[in-house]
Amino acid sequence: MKIETIATNPIEGQMPGTSGLRKKTRVFMEPGYLENFVQATFDAIGGGEGKTLIVGGDGRYFNKVAIQTILKMAAGNGVVKVIVGKDGILSTPAASHLIRLNKADGGFILSASHNPGGIDEDFGIKFNGQNGGPAPENLTAKIFDATKTIAKFKTVSTAEINLNACGSPSLGAMEVQIVDPVESYSALMETLFDFPAIRGLFKGGFTMCFDAMHAVTGPYAKAILEGALGATEGTVANGVPLEDFGKGHPDPNPIWAKTLMDLMMSSAAPDLGAASDGDGDRNMIVGRGAYVTPSDSLAILAANAHLAPAYRDGLAGIARSMPTSAASDRVAKKLGIGSYETPTGWKFFGNLLDAGKVTICGEESAGTGSSHVREKDGLWAVLLWLNILAVRKQSVAEIVSDHWQRFGRDYYSRYDYENVATGSANQLMQSLCSKLPGLAGQAFAGMTVTAADEFSYHDPVDGSVSNNQGIRIYFEGGSRAVFRLSGTGTQGATIRLYLEQYSNTDIGRDTQEALQGVRAAAQSISDMNAHIGRVEPDVIT
Ligand code: G1P
Ligand code: ZN
Repeated sequence: MKIETIATNPIEGQMPGTSGLRKKTRVFMEPGYLENFVQATFDAIGGGEGKTLIVGGDGRYFNKVAIQTILKMAAGNGVVKVIVGKDGILSTPAASHLIRLNKADGGFILSASHNPGGIDEDFGIKFNGQNGGPAPENLTAKIFDATKTIAKFKTVSTAEINLNACGSPSLGAMEVQIVDPVESYSALMETLFDFPAIRGLFKGGFTMCFDAMHAVTGPYAKAILEGALGATEGTVANGVPLEDFGKGHPDPNPIWAKTLMDLMMSSAAPDLGAASDGDGDRNMIVGRGAYVTPSDSLAILAANAHLAPAYRDGLAGIARSMPTSAASDRVAKKLGIGSYETPTGWKFFGNLLDAGKVTICGEESAGTGSSHVREKDGLWAVLLWLNILAVRKQSVAEIVSDHWQRFGRDYYSRYDYENVATGSANQLMQSLCSKLPGLAGQAFAGMTVTAADEFSYHDPVDGSVSNNQGIRIYFEGGSRAVFRLSGTGTQGATIRLYLEQYSNTDIGRDTQEALQGVRAAAQSISDMNAHIGRVEPDVIT
């Protein structure tokens, strides 16, 4: 074993709690930077001795180099076995599954999710624990603390491991297993869904376009959709993972997956459009002429999950992140099962899933998933939609409209204000917080506030409390505005304003038009223009 000294203490600033560490790629390429995080993680989990780990990433620039570093450091830290995806590829949900399947002690996942990739773009790393889920807050805090004091890391000097072929090369005393990244994930999907029914759907002429956005889901989607399920060749677009994602922004929403959106709104639209993000945990669902908001998708999947074999016996409960719309709460209520509102970030679902309190979870940011892994899962959501479509034999638009008729509609939109000066963004939030106690009863732009608070989460499983999770303002007439600061941006601050308006009578309006009232009220309450000099967001989803 070799002990290397880290020259500087390179990890600065607060580590984003939601998703490990994300920075510009060039920062990760500085000597000692990645090593600092990896050694801090080993120290925080009580060392690597005797442990088995999973390692893989979304294929972005620096992925393979980072994996070589991690492998050598794993050997230096006494890890006994590392399972790595061939070519360094593992989608986030596939990595979560491999951790669980192999009863590993955890895994390093290399990705900056939906952020662009390349030498001048973003890179990231996160550690998932034994249950396959993102490290809980107490562990990320430990890792972060360790990064501040660390001065040395353990590694071995050895030749690079060939990641391009499945097999078992050895790295000193450590066993390395290079595995097909798709195989066991695909086998898991086959246990959850009615593959014969979906095969029948495609055989009957059902058409689909899956945009893999040149990111990690390409090989997964090709093997499952075009391979196992018999969809026509070409169903998967942009299916080859590229280090810079073809210079795109691998974020499956109407803005960044515009080509797919345009297709779906045209006369040439297939029956279903879907997309996934950089590391394969997000999804976008769009029917012919009908975009499905992630909040609605969560609710619709929950209401129809019993049509898929794995969920035939019903759901234990449904969890959604706080800014996600209340649509899924209505489903839980009708089904007579528990519903949970958690802070933003998948890690908060882990305890609820482990304790068997919920089966399906989701976030407004295009994340849906279930108890099959401990991460959100893009392809899983697409396959559940396909399973439902195969059984119900209706179009996406019909299923959505039927859902609104049964449950009412939660109009929903998120406004992002990007690259705001950190000081101004903090001031806006602080000033809002200070106004909270007196808000109820006051009217803004004609809307009366019924309640307002700063969201704190009391985990019902381990009793931990997470404060400062965003500001919620409820208005008369079933609308809500939420303000929070993004924890994943890499430049300045991003303010997110989430707007929703419920109606069970008027379900056919234009979304932005339906949200006009709550938007004006939110901008007035927060004095947005005075704080950040603008009210028009950079991105509306
Ligand atoms: C964003 C999303 C959040 C998601 C996270 C990681 O975090 O809003 O729902 O869990 O990415 O994918 P944010 O930038 O808002 O902190
Ligand atoms: Zn992601």
